[in-house]
Amino acid sequence: MIVRSLLLGMSESAWLREHATRWPFVRRAVSRFMPGEMLADMLAAARVLRDAGIEAVFTKLGENVASAAEAEAVARHYVEAVATVRAAGLGAEPSVKLTQLGLDIDRDRAWRHLQTVAEAAHAAGLYLWIDMEQSRYVDVTLDLAERARAEFRDVGVCLQAYLYRTEQDLDRMLRAGVGVRLVKGAYQEPASLAFPKKADVDRSFEALGGRMLEQRAARVVFGTHDAALIARLCDRARALGAPPRSYEFHFLYGIQRAEQARLVAAGEGVRVLVAYGDYWFPWYMRRLAERPANVWFVLRSLVGG
Ligand code: FDA
Repeated sequence: MIVRSLLLGMSESAWLREHATRWPFVRRAVSRFMPGEMLADMLAAARVLRDAGIEAVFTKLGENVASAAEAEAVARHYVEAVATVRAAGLGAEPSVKLTQLGLDIDRDRAWRHLQTVAEAAHAAGLYLWIDMEQSRYVDVTLDLAERARAEFRDVGVCLQAYLYRTEQDLDRMLRAGVGVRLVKGAYQEPASLAFPKKADVDRSFEALGGRMLEQRAARVVFGTHDAALIARLCDRARALGAPPRSYEFHFLYGIQRAEQARLVAAGEGVRVLVAYGDYWFPWYMRRLAERPANVWFVLRSLVGG
């Protein structure tokens, strides 16, 4: 718990972001979770995944963009990226962060950029995902997800099982026909808003996941690497008569590869989220916080040279 808080605290340090990303041992360690910094690296990874029966979801790393020009460039990047994905014959789906599209500058700007990306994804026949960030962004993220869903059919949003409010939010998204990617939640949140204990988060995930299966959400996605939880959700799906592929499991690149392969062999729908770009520090620190054993991996790559 202390290590998690420390790592999540470090994830918000501008100094570390500036400096640590230049240290070769950190760059070596991060490559485990990221095929590379360029769009071409993501495409290459998506091709390899497809050969293993897995489509990708892709995201260009970045968050809390403070410059209008940068937010616009991010939107332009996604427009080009979805066209490139389609031209490459891949089905990789974009996943965007609203604060990377300018939400901290103003909401209308983020909406306009989201609309631009949604239009491009729609034209390419690709589903659009919206990530969920810190709790202060949940209301606006759900509002914009609903608004996007009203214009473009194939839109989904990430919901976090650690927040007490998610039960209500899930019902709202189900009613609006917005697809849902359920995750445990990656940020540091106060006990007034989120379950502090992991066991409670896991229980919440299972209950919310069961509801998604029962209600046949527009898109039922479980974003987790937790094999025991995955097994329980598969049992629940079978009990409800939900066939494999009417729900999916999404993983982060490089994590639980054996479980990914096992699910594919069992006929389950699997996607892997591939992240790329040079703004990887806060994202990478959240990956370390999820599993403190990963810190030893970083230290080993320091010693190993
Ligand atoms: P948990 O942390 O309990 O891990 C279960 C097991 O998986 C561990 O025992 C370990 O074996 C393995 N594992 C988990 N994380 C690992 C890691 N980093 N390295 C190595 N092994 C690891 N969050 C958010 O707040 N907003 C979002 O938009 C998203 N989007 C998203 C998309 C997708 C596709 C996934 C898979 C996850 C996210 N997340 C997210 C992150 C999510 O909230 C959560 O922090 C991580 O998925 C870790 O939780 P698990 O469900 O994997 O369980």
